[in-house]
Amino acid sequence: MSNITFTMIKPDAVADGHIGAILGKIAEAGFKLKAMKLTQLTVADAKKFYEVHAKRPFYGELVDFMSSGPIVAAVLEKENAVEDFRKLIGATNPAEAAEGTIRKMFARSVGENAVHGSDSDENALIEAQFHFSGREIF
Ligand code: CMP
Repeated sequence: MSNITFTMIKPDAVADGHIGAILGKIAEAGFKLKAMKLTQLTVADAKKFYEVHAKRPFYGELVDFMSSGPIVAAVLEKENAVEDFRKLIGATNPAEAAEGTIRKMFARSVGENAVHGSDSDENALIEAQFHFSGREIF
């Protein structure tokens, strides 16, 4: 698969009732849904998904938060998907995110920042396969 990215609408944005608005922004920006589900990460899932951050001081907080409630996981398709999606969501810290970006509009804080976006084509594929089986990706 090329031109795909993986996203999660995180527990803060789900709890705050922003699923519909965020999916609307994603569709308006020209991304096509290839897979999507409402699910919840176990602590073990969150630890594995964020393994790359294991040495960071916020790792425990990140794992607790990401397993604290339901998320929406999705695979999105568009030309230049990874880069364009990162522009659409804005900076990791919503206080630094540009006006009109999803994190600026919907995130609570740097830790509870509403959405995830893959940082490379390689990770997009790994993350998509972490959450979805082949028959769930269209
Ligand atoms: P994301 O880029 O989706 O994946 C890594 C996450 O770590 C990031 O979103 C933030 O939610 C979280 N994160 C990054 N920096 C901090 C921080 N300083 N404090 C708490 N969480 C952070």
